[in-house]
Amino acid sequence: MADKVPGTEVIEEGALLTDGEEIVAVGRRVDILSHSALARRDKEVDEAVDCAGGLLLPGLIDCHTHLVFGGDRSREFEQRLEGVSYQEISRQGGGIRSTVAATRESSEQELRSSASGRVSRMCANGVTTLEVKSGYGLTLKDEEKMLSVARSLSERLPVSIHTTFLGAHAIPEEFHEKSDDYIQLVCEEMLPSVAKQQLADSVDAFCENIAFTNQQVRQVFEKARELSLPVRLHADQLTNSGGAGLAAEFGALSADHLEYTDEAGVKALAESGTVAVLLPGAFYFLKEKQCPPVALLREHQVPMALATDCNPGSSPVDSLLLMLNMGCVMFGLTPREAVAGVTVHAAKALGLSDRGVLKPGSRADFAVFDAATLSHLCYPIGVEPPRMVVQAGCLMSPPHKLL
Ligand code: NIG
Ligand code: FE
Repeated sequence: MADKVPGTEVIEEGALLTDGEEIVAVGRRVDILSHSALARRDKEVDEAVDCAGGLLLPGLIDCHTHLVFGGDRSREFEQRLEGVSYQEISRQGGGIRSTVAATRESSEQELRSSASGRVSRMCANGVTTLEVKSGYGLTLKDEEKMLSVARSLSERLPVSIHTTFLGAHAIPEEFHEKSDDYIQLVCEEMLPSVAKQQLADSVDAFCENIAFTNQQVRQVFEKARELSLPVRLHADQLTNSGGAGLAAEFGALSADHLEYTDEAGVKALAESGTVAVLLPGAFYFLKEKQCPPVALLREHQVPMALATDCNPGSSPVDSLLLMLNMGCVMFGLTPREAVAGVTVHAAKALGLSDRGVLKPGSRADFAVFDAATLSHLCYPIGVEPPRMVVQAGCLMSPPHKLL
């Protein structure tokens, strides 16, 4: 049932043994203290850290962000407060396209500096792995600029970065009414170049009536398959466009948003093993009325991840901890499902099997919170940041400074 989520068992009086970048053992404190890896050593453990009753979780994973971008969308926020819809703003040439203009004008240095601030706050919240999408460049040069900036963030901050090429995010102004030509450019020039330089770990697209059709997404996914890149999809966010089924057909790592996905779509996700990534920040900020089909996803045992969707237009938020609360209150997740959504299931959404669960052999990425139970992490609107974060075996004492 809802509270039996594999990978989320809680060990009381627990302890964790690490060596270098890896976890060696996890279990009850008494058992860990007599662990053979400790007994074998002729010297004392290098460092013993008392977590003093804290809740030790795997390092949090934000598996869906657009956190490299130029400018902001505060003007559109005001328009939306006056009643103009997100789709209408997009049709008038604003929305994603206005961030595209600002991103194209920004230098790598400017993008890196604004993104670093966001990532630094995420790290302080216990995030040790995050995904970053391109999609605000929409020319080969600008998409590659975004992906290089994204990759470089892990050189300066204690976080692993998974990059995603989202060339099919919006139809650029210069391709107005020529979206097929743009998709051709994405498939024939952008994707091969990005793949050749190993700038992206996966490929995403926005399947929606204000973006790309199923047929166009299919072309992008076929090219990705040819280049051996896994895919994910912004699916059924504003309308039911059959996005979940399309993602499943290509064995996507994840299908994201899913507010309008129907039961056939949910069943398809279950069969393909695709993770459903739920994004309560966008749901809240766009004042959506229809929730993703959580009961169906649960019934069909589709793993559910939770992410910030950090972006300037639909989800200007960088707190994954806040998403825990929003996932429970707005989407009806249990605290255990919410925590699984930012750990074990988020790792699966990124195709990463070496993290997200505390087990021998996994990366020593973890965070210690002052919380008595999983519920205490989800119930406050804005949790205290963790008192300790360890990334790849290194103790990071918050606040996180640029290295
Ligand atoms: O995930 N839906 C498409 N992409 C983003 C929004 C991007 C934007 O509005 O700038 C999302 O919500
Ligand atoms: Fe998104």
